[in-house]
Amino acid sequence: MEQNIARDEKLTNVVSPLQDAPAQAATKKVFMKTYGCQMNVYDSQRMTDALASDGYGLTENMEEADLVLLNTCHIREKAAEKVYSELGRIRKLKEEKASVGQELLIGVTGCVAQAEGREILRRAPSVDLVVGPQTYHRLPSVVKRAKSGEKVVETEYAIEDKFEHLPQPAKAIVRNRGVTAFLTVQEGCDKFCTFCVVPYTRGSEVSRPVNQILTEAQRLAESGVREVTLLGQNVNAWHGEGPDGKEWGLGELLFRLAEVPGLSRLRYTTSHPRDMSESLIAAHRDLPQLMPYLHLPVQSGSDRILKTMNRKHTAADYLRLIDRIRGARPDIAMSGDFIVGFPGETDQDFEDTMRIIREVNYAQAFSFKYSPRPGTPGAGMSNHVEEHVKDERLQRLQALLNEQQAAFAQSRAGLEMDVLIEKPGRDAGQIVGRSPWLQPVIMNAELGDIGDIVRVRISKAGSHSLFADSEIPVTA
Ligand code: 5AD
Ligand code: SF4
Repeated sequence: MEQNIARDEKLTNVVSPLQDAPAQAATKKVFMKTYGCQMNVYDSQRMTDALASDGYGLTENMEEADLVLLNTCHIREKAAEKVYSELGRIRKLKEEKASVGQELLIGVTGCVAQAEGREILRRAPSVDLVVGPQTYHRLPSVVKRAKSGEKVVETEYAIEDKFEHLPQPAKAIVRNRGVTAFLTVQEGCDKFCTFCVVPYTRGSEVSRPVNQILTEAQRLAESGVREVTLLGQNVNAWHGEGPDGKEWGLGELLFRLAEVPGLSRLRYTTSHPRDMSESLIAAHRDLPQLMPYLHLPVQSGSDRILKTMNRKHTAADYLRLIDRIRGARPDIAMSGDFIVGFPGETDQDFEDTMRIIREVNYAQAFSFKYSPRPGTPGAGMSNHVEEHVKDERLQRLQALLNEQQAAFAQSRAGLEMDVLIEKPGRDAGQIVGRSPWLQPVIMNAELGDIGDIVRVRISKAGSHSLFADSEIPVTA
């Protein structure tokens, strides 16, 4: 799921990422800007952890940074182009700093770094380092080389190397980041949907071994994390050898993670319809910890377009799958991704997409105009849809999805639900929690402390948040 997050991270308490003893005080500052999906958010945190051991603390103020890193997204043209306009602005800062004898290193990481490599240095010569997503554990040595004047491009390492060597943050750092956390369990994609650049930027599907995942999950739980979202470009393609010597899929992994003390809530994203296994559906049926929310993109409701997209399933396959999932977990909320204006999409194809949306009834969805990506089969197709047609279709599709989302939010009013308290609210006396369906819930601060799960009744549903004003005593 791509959310266009541009999040500047905050870290005040720098301790060694590898042990829990305080490290050298932060003597240098890194400013980090994250674009794209949750995996980039996770990666930005891991990069911060790697740099902390080298004396870098995070700053939210670019002007005081010694190092600026843009962790980039290549999924659509707009996301990739944003990076170059941002680099233009940062170059000016670099020049200003140089004029008063201060150094600013500029780095590009993430999927644009992987896709464009050295080309970035040609288009933006002020950049000092380009690091692909598989190479973050080497960041401290890359930064040292860049400091000595080398222009560094590192995009060649194997993902297993990163999984093995990425530092785990100290408990104090995890605590600072809150009671929810991401945990990458899988990277890459072998599906080769014809619109998508991910198989080229993130490489082929690789699953992280069970022991690494369990160690990280336990560490997160011991540091106060209550809700973990497992991440992967194709997270439900995750597989590995379980401690019982058997081949595990994501379902078995979730059953095991549900036993980790302190982890009260589990989620995972993003999934492909072809990899929804029996055991994963059973996990939705049997695990109260697995939240009733599933992001399962279909992209289009037209079989013709699904075929040219190389999705390897039909609209009817998808609908049957959703019936099975809802049979296992009736209160599950569905989320999806849609692309309008894929090459060759006719009015009828588009109507088929509108129809599947009506049939599924989504609680949440992300929708995009098709954007040709260099090197993908879609970009080379001949029958591209005109921009104004894409615009009209996107508008109609989003109007329908907005209606469904509003109706879903309204359907929560009056319900009792468990809410995980996450952070103080904007106004004094308020706290904000998260519903099982990922909605923010604004509540009276007296209802509990951060990290508590409280049972409340929803008094009102707004367009972005729910409101609860009473705690329901749990009788059990
Ligand atoms: N154009 C538009 N949207 C795209 N997505 C992926 N590639 C493209 C593209 N070339 C969308 C898909 C995917 C989501 C992460 O981004 O809907 O599920
Ligand atoms: Fe891209 Fe398709 Fe792989 Fe998802 S499944 S990352 S859309 S190629």
